[in-house]
This record gives sequence, structure tokens and C-alpha cells, in this order.
Amino acid sequence: MKALGCIFFLIFSLVFLFLRLSYAVTDTEARFIAGRQLLHLREGEDLPDDLEFHVDTNLTFPNPRLRRAYIALHTWKEAIFSDPYNVTSNWEGADVCSYKGVFCAPALDDPSIDVVAGIDLNHADIAGYLPPEIGLLTDLALLHINSNRFCGIVPKSFNKLELLFELDLSNNRFVGPFPTVVISIPALKYLDLRYNDFEGPLPSELFDKDLDAIFLNNNRFHFHIPENMGNSPASIVVLANNKLAGASPAASARWPRP
Ligand SMILES: *[C@@H]1O[C@H](CO)[C@@H](O)[C@H](O)[C@H]1NC(C)=O
Ligand SMILES: *[C@@H]1O[C@H](CO)[C@@H](O)[C@H](O)[C@H]1NC(C)=O
Repeated sequence: MKALGCIFFLIFSLVFLFLRLSYAVTDTEARFIAGRQLLHLREGEDLPDDLEFHVDTNLTFPNPRLRRAYIALHTWKEAIFSDPYNVTSNWEGADVCSYKGVFCAPALDDPSIDVVAGIDLNHADIAGYLPPEIGLLTDLALLHINSNRFCGIVPKSFNKLELLFELDLSNNRFVGPFPTVVISIPALKYLDLRYNDFEGPLPSELFDKDLDAIFLNNNRFHFHIPENMGNSPASIVVLANNKLAGASPAASARWPRP
């Protein structure tokens, strides 16, 4: 298993180098990256318990949660192929709270320690994918990565983000079926998936979830308007510009609720 991991790492490094050299990520490459990521996830769909042993670091951290955040952020940085505005170039060293786009706050369950509570990489034009290690950021309340070139799928490990309140993945190149993992994020209130390449049906559970806002427009979802759509407590639901079957006044509704 370890050897396999090493082989994977080698292949990945080569692919990574190749992509760096080729500078821009073409659609073919984006599909290739998505394929590799799927392969990786199939090998270890969930985060392995011994993950931290694979990360040899000399750095010392104020608390173990910031060490886990370091591992997550550095794995993520390795999964970035292009960062034209150098947003992640200061993602070095143990002080993860000083990383650009990374925000720390006192932990909800222990205000004496700081933890990574938010990540905002909006409009960074970054190309890459989301590695499963992002699931180590268990204190994350906000994850905003709109207007980048992230591709591939949303890792299953997002179910570890128990405090995640706002998830904005809009205007990227995510593919595959609706990322059902978001339904299992208990605290999630704001879900923005618009302007991606998600496809297939929408799970009806989405509309039973206690969300405040759901943006799904401009994808390739094809679905019948779910019968339980009226159950959704969301004050805004936008479904426009998908492959809707069955006309409904709700299809492109933005309904303000009292
Ligand atoms: C780790 O720390 C030791 C002792 O401080 C040092 O000798 C070694 O060079 C460091 N390794 C790296 C990779 O920085
Ligand atoms: C980013 O860093 C590279 C290499 O250091 C530099 O050539 C480039 O001009 C930087 N881009 C921006 C937008 O700062």
C-alpha cells in the first residue's frame, strides 16, 4: 500500500511538473487531472488515519489543529498548477494564519486557541483541484473559492467540515454529479455551485436541508423539479440555465420569503 502511494506520488509529481511547464490548463488536461484525482480518491476515499505520519515537518505549531491545517493547505498548494496572481506564494512556514486568503479565529469549543476559520480565494484565477486533505480543516466556517479554475470533484472528506457554514464553489470547472457530500455538512447554510460543469439529477434531500441560499444555475443539471422543492426553507433558490425537464414557474425562481 505504501509502495503504491509512492508510485502514485512519483507519477503525480511528473504530471505536476508537466502541467507547470505547459503553463495553462487545457480542457484535455483538466479532464486528465479529474481522472487522476478520482483514481486517488478511489484508493483512499476517506482521509487515512495515519495521514500525518506521511508529512515530515520540522515546524512547530501553536496547537495540533493548526498543524493539521498546515498539512491541508500544503497538500492543497501542491494540487495547484497555476496561480497567476501569486496568491499562495506566501503559503510557507508554520504561521498558517498569516497565509494570504486564510483567516484564523478563536476555536468555538476552545477560545484560548486560534484555528483556521475561513478561506477566501475568490477571483484568484487559480487552476488546480481540491485534495481530500481539505477535510483536515475541521474548524472551517467559510470556504470561498469563486472565480478560479478549480476542476475535478468535491472530495468526500468535506463531510468532516462540521462547522462549514458557507461554501462558495461558483465559477470554477467542477464536474461530475451533484456533490452529495454537501448534504451531510451539518452546519451548511449557504451553498453556491453556480457556473460549473456539474451534471445529472439533483438529490431531493437538498430541498429538505435547512439551507438559507442555494445557487445551482449555469450547470448541466438535468432534472424534473423535485416535488419536495417547496419544502426548502431557503430564502433564495436559483436553478436557471440548467437542463430542466418539465416547466415550472419555480425553474428560475428567486423567491424572496418573509
Ligand atoms: C530539521 O531540524 C533539524 C534539527 O534542528 C535540522 O538539523 C534539519 O536540517 C532540519 N530539517 C529540515 C528539512 O529542515
Ligand atoms: C508572480 O511571481 C512570478 C515569479 O516570482 C512573477 O514573475 C510574476 O510577475 C508574479 N505575478 C504577479 C501578478 O505578481
